[in-house]
Amino acid sequence: MFQVSFVKSASKLAECPEPAYPEFALIGRSNVGKSTLINAFLGQKGLAKTSSRPGKTLLINHFIVNQKWFMVDLPGYGFAKVSKVQQQKLKSMNMEYLLNRPNLVCLGVLIDSRLEPQQIDLDFLVWLGQNEIPFFLVFTKADKLGYTKAQSAAAAYKKVLLKQWSTLPPVFVTSAERGQGIDEMRQYIAQLVDSYEGQSL
Ligand code: GTP
Ligand code: MG
Repeated sequence: MFQVSFVKSASKLAECPEPAYPEFALIGRSNVGKSTLINAFLGQKGLAKTSSRPGKTLLINHFIVNQKWFMVDLPGYGFAKVSKVQQQKLKSMNMEYLLNRPNLVCLGVLIDSRLEPQQIDLDFLVWLGQNEIPFFLVFTKADKLGYTKAQSAAAAYKKVLLKQWSTLPPVFVTSAERGQGIDEMRQYIAQLVDSYEGQSL
């Protein structure tokens, strides 16, 4: 398994650790399951702080994995219960990070398997495309819907994306609860990490 430790929490890009390793981050609507997926992915419960209430992660949290790459837990977007000022602050923090972090290899965008495609997510994907930020998609909480239904939901989502996109990113259908889809994600990231081995960032 992975050797993992928490590095630090940052409230802005300038506070993030030196960009000395390839980096992957997870993002998505508040409460979609980013922190929970990081724990399942890295095999350590309680590493990233989770909550049943949205708005738990409010900082940029770096974890170092195998002394080789960073995994980053980001705050969610679209959480209506915090003030407009706070929402804007989180949005700016995420955008500053996404646009300027030089070692960010790929971003995982999490989507709740149970929901119809949400405009806020579709708009965010367009913004990533416009800014040439590579991403993959992760459908979460597949256990709540049933794995087969979650796979169908992901297939339906892809069809919606194909109205706007000519190519599709890698897609993973996961349950942090049951562990489904997580190994596939590990393999995908491992292969990207390997391709950076020995390269200067
Ligand atoms: P913020 O930090 O607030 O943006 O949320 P987050 O996206 O990090 O969500 P978090 O990981 O804190 O999870 C939110 C809730 O969803 C928690 O109650 C988790 O237990 C639950 N959850 C996350 N993933 C799964 C899953 O795969 N299956 C089930 N059943 N519940 C999940
Ligand atoms: Mg979180």
